[in-house]
Amino acid sequence: MKTSTIVKTVLDFDVAEYVTAARVAGRRHLDPALRGRMADLYVDLHALLTGSPATLDRRELRVLRLAELALQSEWKLAARTGEGVEPGGPEGPRGTRYQPYSNVRLLNHALGTRRHASDAVVERHCRQALKYLVDSWLGYERRTVRGEETWGQLDLPTPRESEERLSRLEALRAAMRPWPALLDPGPAPPPRWEDYLGEAGRARILEYLINLPQSSKHEENVFLRVIHLTEAATSGILARTVAANAWLESGGYGAAVRCLALATELALLQIDIMLVLRRTMSVESFLGFRKDTENASAIQMASAQTLQIHLLGVHPRKVEALGGIEENAFLLLYLNRHFQPLRSLLQRLEETDETRPVFAAARELDEALFRWRRLHLGLAHRYLPKDVMGSGGTVGAPYLSGFYHDRIFDAEGRLFPHPVPLAMPPIDERVRARSVFSPLN
Ligand code: HEM
Repeated sequence: MKTSTIVKTVLDFDVAEYVTAARVAGRRHLDPALRGRMADLYVDLHALLTGSPATLDRRELRVLRLAELALQSEWKLAARTGEGVEPGGPEGPRGTRYQPYSNVRLLNHALGTRRHASDAVVERHCRQALKYLVDSWLGYERRTVRGEETWGQLDLPTPRESEERLSRLEALRAAMRPWPALLDPGPAPPPRWEDYLGEAGRARILEYLINLPQSSKHEENVFLRVIHLTEAATSGILARTVAANAWLESGGYGAAVRCLALATELALLQIDIMLVLRRTMSVESFLGFRKDTENASAIQMASAQTLQIHLLGVHPRKVEALGGIEENAFLLLYLNRHFQPLRSLLQRLEETDETRPVFAAARELDEALFRWRRLHLGLAHRYLPKDVMGSGGTVGAPYLSGFYHDRIFDAEGRLFPHPVPLAMPPIDERVRARSVFSPLN
């Protein structure tokens, strides 16, 4: 296709029609012709953007780059899987499924987790997004209870589950009241990509473009909301952890304490978010939509794996799991002696009156994240039938119990050494180092 035709086709694409179609019956039932058109357009657009699009002005480029994120998701989901499909062949598979299923690249766009964004800016955007997403979820649940919601209404929670969910969401919202807010996205998805740019566009991306469940089951919609909230909190924690490490390396102890404290605030919130799921979603509902998500597993969640590595280093038992996920294999490059996670930085730090607050702040963050991992392991035990594999291809709960207790401090508050220091395994030559944030954006 000619450049001008590609640009025109992208600009004329009706975003509202796509969102509405995906919402009506679930993304799994999206008209194959529409998905096929989006997938083909992605291929052309990708080629255009990776070439030298010198003829395009800045505004056009911004629109095309945003559209590329959404089109890529459909291109990935259009890939065929299973027998007879050649790995690396034109039909698929096209990367792992968690990223397109959850539309993580679009979410990261709304969070502004770009290479040069400061930790303060990323954290502010994450808080705005968290506040928006909780509000949006609360609205969705309230409309459902009143019988006014128009999508995602299959297999509703019981009145008791809804009541508890509403009260937990209200508590979360109250805790976020002083946080900065996003602009109102408006009552319906706008038709042009351009409307999803800039400050106003951020809430529109969060409201209309990222939450596109495979089915119209209410609880799958909720599951995706929990994933997005966890992603947003994790990015904020990661931004502040990376900054704390940098301050520690340069002796800025006061600033490191502040960064760790802000990270802990988000880590505690992340527990409350997961508790909404744990306390209000039945096992039957979870199993009712699990198949629809196919093999989208948060083991492929790059932000969470990156955070773990900046805190603890690469765990020896994770090498295989990380290396086995094409998009995350670059994380093994952190297995080098120049990289110092928080654990190593603390081990080299002498405990004095000046540094004691750093240890105290790190202990609180470590404890909050440990509590989240323990809660998550409990989910795997509760929601997955015994001996069932995880959707990420691991042995499930036993995989998680292999290292959920690996942490910076032991129960008495003493520093834990790194399990076993490792050398870098041979890494495929196509793997390239990437910046901490939005490695795939
Ligand atoms: C009932 C709900 C859930 C169950 C039963 C569950 C189960 C599992 C299992 C079995 C794994 C191991 C990898 C695999 O083979 O898939 C895993 C990994 C993971 N899950 Fe979940 N999960 C649930 C919800 C969530 C949610 C809502 C999030 C938030 C984003 C999440 C984040 C993660 C992360 C970050 C990992 C990677 C852990 C690691 O490699 O250390 N999970 N989950």
